[in-house]
Amino acid sequence: MSIVSTKQMLLKAQQGGYAVVAFNVENMEMVQAVCDSANKLKAPVIIATSASALKYAPPALFAAMVYAVAKETSIPIALHLDHGNSFELCEACVKAGYSSVMIDASQQPYEENVKLSRAVVKLCATYQVPVEAELGHVGGKEDDIESENDLGTDPIQAAEFVKQTGVNSLAVAIGTTHGVYQGAPKLDFERLSSIRSAVDIPLVLHGASGLSGDAVRACVSRGICKINYATELRAAYTAAVRHVLLENPEAIDPKIFGRAARQCVSEVVLEKITVLGCEGKA
Ligand code: G3H
Ligand code: ZN
Repeated sequence: MSIVSTKQMLLKAQQGGYAVVAFNVENMEMVQAVCDSANKLKAPVIIATSASALKYAPPALFAAMVYAVAKETSIPIALHLDHGNSFELCEACVKAGYSSVMIDASQQPYEENVKLSRAVVKLCATYQVPVEAELGHVGGKEDDIESENDLGTDPIQAAEFVKQTGVNSLAVAIGTTHGVYQGAPKLDFERLSSIRSAVDIPLVLHGASGLSGDAVRACVSRGICKINYATELRAAYTAAVRHVLLENPEAIDPKIFGRAARQCVSEVVLEKITVLGCEGKA
Protein backbone atom coordinates (compact mmCIF):
# COMPACT_ATOMS: atom_id res chain seq x y z
CA MET A 1 0.00 0.00 0.00
CA SER A 2 1.14 3.56 -0.42
CA ILE A 3 1.62 6.16 2.30
CA VAL A 4 -1.55 7.47 3.93
CA SER A 5 -2.36 10.44 6.13
CA THR A 6 -2.74 10.03 9.90
CA LYS A 7 -6.08 11.85 9.80
CA GLN A 8 -8.38 8.92 9.01
CA MET A 9 -6.06 6.47 10.75
CA LEU A 10 -6.41 8.26 14.09
CA LEU A 11 -10.12 9.03 13.76
CA LYS A 12 -10.71 5.34 13.09
CA ALA A 13 -8.66 4.40 16.15
CA GLN A 14 -10.56 6.94 18.24
CA GLN A 15 -13.88 5.46 17.16
CA GLY A 16 -12.61 1.89 17.59
CA GLY A 17 -11.14 2.45 21.07
CA TYR A 18 -7.57 1.42 20.23
CA ALA A 19 -4.30 3.27 19.63
CA VAL A 20 -2.08 3.37 16.58
CA VAL A 21 1.61 3.17 17.41
CA ALA A 22 4.14 5.70 16.13
CA PHE A 23 7.70 4.34 16.11
CA ASN A 24 10.68 6.63 15.80
CA VAL A 25 13.24 5.38 13.29
CA GLU A 26 16.84 6.38 12.67
CA ASN A 27 17.86 4.30 9.67
CA MET A 28 16.88 1.74 7.03
CA GLU A 29 16.95 -1.27 9.33
CA MET A 30 14.48 0.40 11.70
CA VAL A 31 12.17 1.38 8.81
CA GLN A 32 12.16 -2.25 7.64
CA ALA A 33 11.65 -3.63 11.15
CA VAL A 34 8.64 -1.39 11.82
CA CYS A 35 6.94 -1.84 8.44
CA ASP A 36 7.51 -5.60 8.19
CA SER A 37 6.33 -6.27 11.75
CA ALA A 38 3.21 -4.12 11.36
CA ASN A 39 2.51 -5.87 8.05
CA LYS A 40 2.77 -9.27 9.77
CA LEU A 41 0.18 -8.19 12.33
CA LYS A 42 -1.99 -6.34 9.78
CA ALA A 43 -1.77 -3.18 11.86
CA PRO A 44 -1.78 0.43 10.66
CA VAL A 45 1.46 2.08 11.70
CA ILE A 46 3.19 5.46 11.86
CA ILE A 47 6.86 5.86 11.02
CA ALA A 48 8.18 8.93 12.83
CA THR A 49 11.42 10.83 12.44
CA SER A 50 12.52 13.44 14.95
CA ALA A 51 14.17 16.76 14.12
CA SER A 52 17.43 15.19 15.23
CA ALA A 53 17.03 12.14 12.93
CA LEU A 54 16.47 14.62 10.10
CA LYS A 55 19.83 16.23 10.83
CA TYR A 56 21.36 12.77 10.43
CA ALA A 57 19.58 12.08 7.11
CA PRO A 58 17.28 14.49 5.22
CA PRO A 59 13.48 14.12 4.88
CA ALA A 60 13.72 13.07 1.22
CA LEU A 61 15.95 10.13 2.12
CA PHE A 62 13.60 8.86 4.86
CA ALA A 63 10.64 9.44 2.54
CA ALA A 64 12.26 7.44 -0.26
CA MET A 65 12.94 4.52 2.10
CA VAL A 66 9.49 4.54 3.65
CA TYR A 67 7.65 4.84 0.32
CA ALA A 68 9.72 1.97 -1.13
CA VAL A 69 9.13 -0.30 1.86
CA ALA A 70 5.43 0.62 2.16
CA LYS A 71 4.80 -0.44 -1.45
CA GLU A 72 5.68 -4.00 -0.45
CA THR A 73 3.12 -4.09 2.38
CA SER A 74 -0.67 -4.26 2.47
CA ILE A 75 -1.20 -1.98 5.47
CA PRO A 76 -1.72 1.78 5.87
CA ILE A 77 1.58 3.43 6.80
CA ALA A 78 1.93 7.13 7.63
CA LEU A 79 5.19 9.07 7.58
CA HIS A 80 5.26 11.61 10.38
CA LEU A 81 7.56 14.42 11.52
CA ASP A 82 7.92 14.06 15.29
CA HIS A 83 8.56 17.16 17.47
CA GLY A 84 9.04 19.45 14.47
CA ASN A 85 10.80 22.49 15.91
CA SER A 86 10.22 25.06 13.17
CA PHE A 87 7.85 26.10 10.40
CA GLU A 88 10.69 25.51 7.92
CA LEU A 89 11.24 21.89 8.99
CA CYS A 90 7.51 21.17 8.71
CA GLU A 91 7.54 22.67 5.22
CA ALA A 92 10.59 20.64 4.16
CA CYS A 93 8.89 17.45 5.35
CA VAL A 94 5.56 17.98 3.60
CA LYS A 95 7.42 18.92 0.43
CA ALA A 96 9.40 15.67 0.72
CA GLY A 97 6.19 13.61 0.96
CA TYR A 98 5.55 13.31 4.71
CA SER A 99 1.89 12.56 5.33
CA SER A 100 1.69 13.97 8.85
CA VAL A 101 3.61 16.52 10.93
CA MET A 102 3.96 17.55 14.54
CA ILE A 103 4.84 21.12 15.36
CA ASP A 104 6.10 21.30 18.92
CA ALA A 105 6.10 24.81 20.35
CA SER A 106 5.08 23.55 23.78
CA GLN A 107 8.10 25.17 25.45
CA GLN A 108 7.03 28.58 24.20
CA PRO A 109 4.43 30.85 25.83
CA TYR A 110 0.81 29.88 25.02
CA GLU A 111 0.27 32.66 22.45
CA GLU A 112 3.46 31.73 20.59
CA ASN A 113 2.44 28.07 20.56
CA VAL A 114 -0.94 29.03 19.10
CA LYS A 115 0.64 31.31 16.49
CA LEU A 116 3.18 28.78 15.21
CA SER A 117 0.79 25.81 15.34
CA ARG A 118 -1.83 27.78 13.43
CA ALA A 119 0.71 28.80 10.77
CA VAL A 120 1.74 25.14 10.30
CA VAL A 121 -1.92 24.07 10.05
CA LYS A 122 -2.40 26.64 7.30
CA LEU A 123 0.70 25.47 5.44
CA CYS A 124 -0.22 21.80 5.74
CA ALA A 125 -3.80 22.37 4.57
CA THR A 126 -2.39 23.06 1.10
CA TYR A 127 -0.86 19.58 1.11
CA GLN A 128 -3.80 17.92 2.90
CA VAL A 129 -1.43 16.92 5.67
CA PRO A 130 -2.77 16.72 9.25
CA VAL A 131 -0.98 18.44 12.12
CA GLU A 132 -0.27 17.37 15.70
CA ALA A 133 0.71 19.97 18.30
CA GLU A 134 1.55 19.79 22.00
CA LEU A 135 0.09 21.73 24.88
CA GLY A 136 1.53 21.55 28.36
CA HIS A 137 4.97 19.98 28.11
CA VAL A 138 6.36 16.44 28.18
CA GLY A 139 9.85 16.69 29.68
CA GLY A 140 12.79 14.30 29.76
CA LYS A 141 15.55 13.61 27.27
CA GLU A 142 15.12 12.46 23.71
CA ASP A 143 17.82 12.98 21.08
CA ASP A 144 19.11 16.48 21.56
CA ILE A 145 15.86 17.70 23.16
CA GLU A 146 16.28 17.85 26.91
CA SER A 147 13.87 19.46 29.29
CA GLU A 148 13.10 19.12 32.97
CA ASN A 149 10.12 21.32 32.51
CA ASP A 150 7.15 18.91 32.84
CA LEU A 151 3.93 20.87 32.63
CA GLY A 152 0.56 19.13 32.77
CA THR A 153 -1.91 19.97 29.99
CA ASP A 154 -4.76 22.15 31.20
CA PRO A 155 -8.07 20.73 29.87
CA ILE A 156 -9.83 24.09 29.46
CA GLN A 157 -6.81 25.63 27.75
CA ALA A 158 -6.58 22.53 25.54
CA ALA A 159 -10.12 23.10 24.25
CA GLU A 160 -9.27 26.73 23.52
CA PHE A 161 -5.99 25.74 21.83
CA VAL A 162 -7.69 23.26 19.50
CA LYS A 163 -10.30 25.85 18.56
CA GLN A 164 -7.69 28.58 17.93
CA THR A 165 -5.25 26.45 15.92
CA GLY A 166 -7.34 23.89 14.02
CA VAL A 167 -4.82 21.11 14.78
CA ASN A 168 -5.91 17.54 14.01
CA SER A 169 -4.44 15.82 17.07
CA LEU A 170 -3.09 16.94 20.42
CA ALA A 171 -0.10 15.64 22.39
CA VAL A 172 -0.89 15.84 26.09
CA ALA A 173 1.31 16.01 29.17
CA ILE A 174 -0.07 13.72 31.88
CA GLY A 175 3.10 12.66 33.68
CA THR A 176 4.98 10.75 30.98
CA THR A 177 8.60 11.60 30.22
CA HIS A 178 10.84 11.16 27.20
CA GLY A 179 13.80 8.81 27.52
CA VAL A 180 14.48 6.47 30.42
CA TYR A 181 12.28 6.87 33.54
CA GLN A 182 14.07 7.70 36.77
CA GLY A 183 11.77 6.00 39.26
CA ALA A 184 8.23 4.74 38.72
CA PRO A 185 6.14 6.75 36.24
CA LYS A 186 3.16 8.53 37.81
CA LEU A 187 0.39 9.11 35.32
CA ASP A 188 -2.39 11.60 35.93
CA PHE A 189 -5.38 9.63 34.61
CA GLU A 190 -7.86 12.14 35.96
CA ARG A 191 -6.24 14.92 33.95
CA LEU A 192 -6.37 12.71 30.86
CA SER A 193 -10.09 12.04 31.31
CA SER A 194 -10.76 15.76 31.79
CA ILE A 195 -8.84 16.61 28.60
CA ARG A 196 -10.79 13.89 26.75
CA SER A 197 -14.07 15.44 27.91
CA ALA A 198 -13.00 18.94 26.87
CA VAL A 199 -11.44 18.11 23.48
CA ASP A 200 -12.85 15.96 20.70
CA ILE A 201 -9.82 15.43 18.43
CA PRO A 202 -7.46 12.42 18.74
CA LEU A 203 -5.11 12.60 21.76
CA VAL A 204 -1.47 11.54 21.61
CA LEU A 205 0.75 10.05 24.32
CA HIS A 206 4.47 10.80 24.18
CA GLY A 207 7.14 9.21 26.32
CA ALA A 208 5.64 5.71 26.33
CA SER A 209 8.93 3.76 26.56
CA GLY A 210 9.16 2.21 30.01
CA LEU A 211 5.40 2.26 30.72
CA SER A 212 3.74 -1.07 31.54
CA GLY A 213 1.16 -2.66 29.25
CA ASP A 214 -1.51 -1.92 31.87
CA ALA A 215 -0.53 1.76 32.02
CA VAL A 216 -0.69 2.27 28.25
CA ARG A 217 -3.96 0.36 28.00
CA ALA A 218 -5.40 2.55 30.76
CA CYS A 219 -4.42 5.61 28.70
CA VAL A 220 -6.10 4.13 25.61
CA SER A 221 -9.29 3.45 27.55
CA ARG A 222 -9.28 7.14 28.55
CA GLY A 223 -9.02 8.40 25.00
CA ILE A 224 -5.40 8.18 23.78
CA CYS A 225 -5.34 6.94 20.17
CA LYS A 226 -1.71 7.46 19.14
CA ILE A 227 1.23 6.30 21.26
CA ASN A 228 4.87 7.17 20.58
CA TYR A 229 7.88 4.93 21.17
CA ALA A 230 11.49 5.88 20.50
CA THR A 231 13.75 4.99 23.43
CA GLU A 232 12.86 1.28 23.62
CA LEU A 233 13.61 0.84 19.90
CA ARG A 234 16.94 2.64 20.16
CA ALA A 235 17.89 0.60 23.20
CA ALA A 236 16.98 -2.69 21.47
CA TYR A 237 18.90 -1.72 18.33
CA THR A 238 22.03 -0.65 20.18
CA ALA A 239 22.04 -3.60 22.56
CA ALA A 240 21.91 -5.96 19.57
CA VAL A 241 24.82 -4.23 17.83
CA ARG A 242 26.84 -4.24 21.05
CA HIS A 243 26.15 -7.93 21.61
CA VAL A 244 27.12 -8.96 18.06
CA LEU A 245 30.34 -6.98 18.16
CA LEU A 246 31.31 -8.36 21.55
CA GLU A 247 30.68 -11.90 20.33
CA ASN A 248 32.43 -11.31 16.99
CA PRO A 249 35.21 -8.79 17.59
CA GLU A 250 36.65 -9.57 14.16
CA ALA A 251 33.41 -8.74 12.30
CA ILE A 252 33.75 -6.09 9.61
CA ASP A 253 30.49 -6.60 7.67
CA PRO A 254 27.87 -4.05 8.83
CA LYS A 255 25.13 -6.40 7.58
CA ILE A 256 25.92 -8.83 10.38
CA PHE A 257 25.02 -6.45 13.20
CA GLY A 258 22.44 -4.64 11.02
CA ARG A 259 20.44 -7.88 10.68
CA ALA A 260 20.63 -8.62 14.40
CA ALA A 261 19.57 -5.08 15.30
CA ARG A 262 16.66 -5.19 12.83
CA GLN A 263 15.48 -8.45 14.38
CA CYS A 264 15.59 -7.04 17.92
CA VAL A 265 13.71 -3.89 16.89
CA SER A 266 11.08 -6.10 15.19
CA GLU A 267 10.46 -7.91 18.46
CA VAL A 268 9.77 -4.63 20.28
CA VAL A 269 7.43 -3.50 17.50
CA LEU A 270 5.45 -6.76 17.52
CA GLU A 271 5.04 -6.53 21.29
CA LYS A 272 3.86 -2.89 21.31
CA ILE A 273 1.34 -3.41 18.51
CA THR A 274 -0.11 -6.43 20.27
CA VAL A 275 -0.32 -4.67 23.65
CA LEU A 276 -2.07 -1.65 22.16
CA GLY A 277 -4.75 -3.62 20.39
CA CYS A 278 -4.18 -2.41 16.84
CA GLU A 279 -3.37 -5.87 15.47
CA GLY A 280 -5.71 -6.66 12.57
CA LYS A 281 -6.97 -3.06 12.29
CA ALA A 282 -5.33 -2.36 8.91
O1 G3H B 1 8.12 11.53 20.36
C1 G3H B 1 8.57 10.42 20.67
C2 G3H B 1 8.16 9.74 21.90
O2 G3H B 1 7.49 10.60 22.73
C3 G3H B 1 9.27 8.93 22.48
O3 G3H B 1 9.11 8.63 23.82
O4 G3H B 1 11.41 8.37 24.72
O5 G3H B 1 9.49 7.30 25.81
O6 G3H B 1 10.27 6.46 23.64
P1 G3H B 1 10.13 7.63 24.52
ZN1 ZN C 1 7.72 12.79 22.10
